[in-house]
Amino acid sequence: AEPGWNETTDVVVVGSGIAGLTAALHLREQGLHVTVVTKVNIDDGSTRWAQGGIAAVLDPLDTPQAHAYDTEIAGVGLCDPEAVRVLVEEGPARIRELIRRGAEFDRNPDGSLMLTREGGHRADRIVHAGGDATGAEVQRALHAAVRRDPWIRLVEHALVLDLLRAADGRACGITLHVLGEGSEDGVGAVLARAVVLATGGMGQVYASTTNPSVSTGDGVALALRAGAEVTDVEFVQFHPTSFVSSGVTSVQRPLISEALRGEGAHLVDENGERFMLGRHELAELAPRDVVAKGIYRVLRATGADHVYLDARHLGKQFLEQRFPTIMASTRGAGVDPATELIPVAPAAHYASGGVRTDLHGRTSIPGLYACGEVACTGVHGANRLASNSLLEGLVFAKRIADDIHRDLPPQAEPVRANMTPAWVADPAIRPEVQRAMTRGAGVLRSADSLETATKELSRLAESRATPNTAAWEATNLLTVATALVASARTRRETRGCHWREDHPNAADEWRGHLLDAVGADGMM
Ligand code: SIN
Repeated sequence: AEPGWNETTDVVVVGSGIAGLTAALHLREQGLHVTVVTKVNIDDGSTRWAQGGIAAVLDPLDTPQAHAYDTEIAGVGLCDPEAVRVLVEEGPARIRELIRRGAEFDRNPDGSLMLTREGGHRADRIVHAGGDATGAEVQRALHAAVRRDPWIRLVEHALVLDLLRAADGRACGITLHVLGEGSEDGVGAVLARAVVLATGGMGQVYASTTNPSVSTGDGVALALRAGAEVTDVEFVQFHPTSFVSSGVTSVQRPLISEALRGEGAHLVDENGERFMLGRHELAELAPRDVVAKGIYRVLRATGADHVYLDARHLGKQFLEQRFPTIMASTRGAGVDPATELIPVAPAAHYASGGVRTDLHGRTSIPGLYACGEVACTGVHGANRLASNSLLEGLVFAKRIADDIHRDLPPQAEPVRANMTPAWVADPAIRPEVQRAMTRGAGVLRSADSLETATKELSRLAESRATPNTAAWEATNLLTVATALVASARTRRETRGCHWREDHPNAADEWRGHLLDAVGADGMM
């Protein structure tokens, strides 16, 4: 059969979650040919794991200003107000579009959208589907819409490696490693007039994360190698409540949605005390960084590896109807939230930083766009507000498609340079990177812990392997971990989800963004 991975298209979209698929659909509406490439299968990214929902102003009593206010409070001084304005003002229209594309959200008996609340929100503004299966429904609907369009070409099992550039520096395609094609022979290319990175996050740099195994920072690593501006990577958000169970052995931990707290569940310590009371006016529904820190303090004081979420008072019937995903994963591991406390602990959840973009998703490299978790549009600042991430993917995917449509140059010839680093890391280092990062650059950091992590990562960077998907993933993990630790060392303050034990307060001099860079050999 003809190899499907050496081709020319108008726009290549890398990644197949909410950001990538929405961008592809909008680009098609602009009459462009689109190739979507994705590392494993189309549905394997983070989107389908999202539980709580999508935040947008859909209640007549709510306002975009109120949504912007909550977003900026959560972001602790680092949100870009213009980007936030775009997010909250354009969000409702994008949700309605998603509904027109086939997504079915939960509704009240009168047919209106059911809205809930999560941490940091002062209004009910979160739409959800299937109770706590919002991401699965969004992914289903977008997947179906993409499959219906014969002009969207989908290439699965293709890991993006590097950006192809024209003589004037413009992005004009990507190189790929296609699974099952051997080593050197597996490298193909897609030439395109514009490139959209929508590769998702990097949660797999940690030993426990809510992210799936594919979230290895591939897009940020590509951007670093290409010299695109990458920013705010020290702001890794830890979700306060991932499920802790001896039955869960993978790096990916089941999420216990913040919506469960939104519906009234309480965090308690081993004595049954609600330790978030008195710590913040919103208690369990404080912004996520505040709750994660509150839990971490209890864990440090007691030496335990979890606290508990008490949802028993919500009742079996309500829990089964409203939270079927959570009930299935906890009961599958022998814990029944209707009658028992749920053991929970923080886990890496979301990269608030990433490849820096403007309000049209343009990166610092002409022709290269970034959308979704891989991007840093400025809406999240130092700590993303709950349920703003799916929204960001929707809003900026449309803006990117509009920008590409406005100004799409002819296909440029790539400069034939070997852009990939001369080495790839041994896949065996992956768990070592994860352990080093959790120990040294996790929820709580210090100069000492970060120095130890730096040394550990440098040692792991000595490893070498022959190229294959696992080796590329290990290389990308190491690349983004190194950038993350470097920024976390530099930022000597505590702000949002960056918590420094040795610099416990926010400082005005740090009210700015750090840029990350990578050396010619592929590492910082
Ligand atoms: C959750 O359901 O708690 C996750 C929501 C989010 O990450 O925005």
